[in-house]
Amino acid sequence: MKKAINTYVSGTGAAVPDTVITNSDLEKMVETNDHWIVSRTGIRERRKLEEGLSNIDLSERASREAIKRAGLDPSELDMIIVATVTPDHPTPSTSCLLQARLKAFNAAAFDLSAGCTGFIYGLTVGHQFICSGIYKNILVVGVEVLSRVTDWEDRSTCVLFGDGAGAVVLSRTEKERGIINFSLHADGRGANLLIIPAGGSAIPACEESLQNRMHFLKMNGNEIFKFAVKVVEENLSRMLRHNNLKPGDLDYLFLHQANLRIIDHIRKRLKIPQEKVPVNIDRFGNTSSATIPIAIHEEIVAGRMAEGDLVAMVAFGAGLTWGGLVMKW
Ligand code: UT7
Repeated sequence: MKKAINTYVSGTGAAVPDTVITNSDLEKMVETNDHWIVSRTGIRERRKLEEGLSNIDLSERASREAIKRAGLDPSELDMIIVATVTPDHPTPSTSCLLQARLKAFNAAAFDLSAGCTGFIYGLTVGHQFICSGIYKNILVVGVEVLSRVTDWEDRSTCVLFGDGAGAVVLSRTEKERGIINFSLHADGRGANLLIIPAGGSAIPACEESLQNRMHFLKMNGNEIFKFAVKVVEENLSRMLRHNNLKPGDLDYLFLHQANLRIIDHIRKRLKIPQEKVPVNIDRFGNTSSATIPIAIHEEIVAGRMAEGDLVAMVAFGAGLTWGGLVMKW
């Protein structure tokens, strides 16, 4: 009998800028303080990409590491998916720029915009191409340079975000491992809750859009917080139930790093021990689609996560979008 094809992660990589912005740096820029930021968000510092560099530079560094760890040559990639809301240009896609940098000329390439859920959407899309038997190796990158769309005069957002990239190579396997379940969702009625109003076809760049600071990210934090707490738990519980699994069966739960209070709340509700729910928001802030792949890579590099571990990941963000994935590593 023909064995079933599945998708597993054959390599991981991550890259963050060298420049650190601490809470005390922010105290000098806007009316805020370390106590407020740490107690409300869990963030102590974040990274900011240096002038002259852009999304593609972070994407390339994370991707090269993931490809190397997968034991592949870039020419063996069949597809590149870059999940980002901060591409180098509206067009061409960052994935095409990345394909050229990597000399991965056998790869199809496109960007995917699903806010902070972009990496989960990317993994799920890549998984379809592998399961269909068409492709063998797909690079998925979650990358953001949010410092370039952050309003550094708005204390309600500028303390939250950071720059970074995480990458994985998805590969075909016929072994008893890989993706077990996934679940993607969206609710466009919440589009205005997290938005960069200008710079697209609705409000092209003009004097007024610049004066009104409409090229910066605007967020209704309270509403997103309530939405996140509800959908993350629902989503994860449904995925686990569908496969007769319980939260206690998980070796790892990677949650989108938007707020430590959200992470702790969900972890406690599901009674999952702290060491199974990695946190990097304290060091990197909210790096949107990059938070989960960076956290995964950190666990791999530390030698803590291993083949056979039961791993879940859940994210939520602009769109609104949310989604999750369960896999046997
Ligand atoms: O990545 C996916 C999308 N993002 C998220 O998931 C974010 C989800 N939301 C959150 O994490 C939280 O809602 C925030 C961290 C954004 C805000 O925390 P909060 O506990 O919901 O605070 P708040 O917005 O209700 O503000 C409370 C107070 C306000 O003052 P008043 O009106 O009570 O006097 C704010 O003006 O805190 C004030 N405030 C600040 N104070 C010091 C807001 N930002 C700051 C600041 N420093 N940076």
